[in-house]
Amino acid sequence: MPFTRRQYIQAFAAYLAASPLARAQRDLPYTGERMPSLEELVNVFEFEPVCKARLPQQNYDFIAGGVDNEWSVRHNREAFDKITFRPRMMVDTSGMDLSLDLFGSKLSCPILIAPTAGHGLATSEGEFATARAAAKVQTVMALSTNASQQLEKVAAASSFPKWYQLYPGPDLEGTFERTYRAMGAGFKVIVLTVDGPYGSHRERLSRDRIRVAVPSGLGARTAKRRQRPDDEEPVKPPPYGLSPALMNRLDWRFFDDLKKRCNVPVLIKGILTAEDAELARQHGADGIVCSNHGGRYLEYAPATIEVLSEIVGAAGNVPVLVDSGFRRGTDVLKALAIGAKAVLVGRPVLWGLGAYGEAGAVRVLELMRTELALAMGLCGKPNLTSINRTLVKF
Ligand SMILES: Cc1cc2nc3c(=O)[nH]c(=O)nc-3n(C[C@H](O)[C@H](O)[C@H](O)COP(=O)(O)O)c2cc1C
Repeated sequence: MPFTRRQYIQAFAAYLAASPLARAQRDLPYTGERMPSLEELVNVFEFEPVCKARLPQQNYDFIAGGVDNEWSVRHNREAFDKITFRPRMMVDTSGMDLSLDLFGSKLSCPILIAPTAGHGLATSEGEFATARAAAKVQTVMALSTNASQQLEKVAAASSFPKWYQLYPGPDLEGTFERTYRAMGAGFKVIVLTVDGPYGSHRERLSRDRIRVAVPSGLGARTAKRRQRPDDEEPVKPPPYGLSPALMNRLDWRFFDDLKKRCNVPVLIKGILTAEDAELARQHGADGIVCSNHGGRYLEYAPATIEVLSEIVGAAGNVPVLVDSGFRRGTDVLKALAIGAKAVLVGRPVLWGLGAYGEAGAVRVLELMRTELALAMGLCGKPNLTSINRTLVKF
């Protein structure tokens, strides 16, 4: 049956509405007709809709997704609103200094790049772009076990110190072999992630598996949207059940073993209670990363800024780092005041990469660093050592 004129117009309107540019415009009303240039974005949040518009939906969903109803993703942000500052006046802050020494490396600021998988889904340059961005900002990139590029090649992509994030698997032998490779390639710190003993149900991804072909592996090629989805059989979602990782068999004895094999500091990432922080200290962890994985594993995991205080208390002299939901300089300052040594950011760096490649990642980090400096200046804190608990009120 031939289409009517009305049906043609409706179909064309639907096509326009589904285009990336139209999606961006819905989210970025102030830029009107066009995609914004990098310089036009005034904060980190504004990179997300540009990234969303530029990437195939399944790639964006992989970055954005949390578990179940994504309550923890939202709560990571909401929890910052419960903390205000107690700013001090009449302090000379003209010699503002955000730098710090962390595990033997001098960084420009206490904002690091969290380990995130598959940067090739955000930009064709993948982790090479991230490594160069980190070097430009003089901060640490933690490279994920599930990176798009080989760890040795990423190590060589810039001369600035980098850390390696370790997921145990697929077996112990392979785990230790990768650890040795990372140390051999010059990674300065091993970050063992312990909060994923089972694969979590990221429902956005399950839906995408049905709707479009999900990128196979996390290769450096940016996955292409299917040209004609109706022509192909839908891909079935994986069976809804427990998908255990090697991690579900491991306990602190594994940590002891790993620690013995490493000639660099070993941090433990994914700690959310004082009890586990205390155990990490007893087992000789060189650092603790308080993290709920950006709300991607346990739904109703607490916001990290809520539990940071108890973890810092239990950690004693062991440095505590924190991530999950950090988007503003003031978020970072709150964590530093509670006792964190530094903060890691995950999605914002991927939004930067997805929106503008390496330059976007640099800009995201620079924006957060500048916001932190401004917040410190307005609170009468000229350097990191002057920041303490008296700065915040719950
Ligand atoms: C797309 C994506 C991939 C991630 N991949 C890893 C990973 O491979 N290893 C890991 O330890 N954490 C991974 N994480 C968690 C981050 O290290 C970090 O804990 C989290 O992103 C912080 O929250 P934020 O994204 O709100 O900043 C990933 C997070 C995202 C968003």
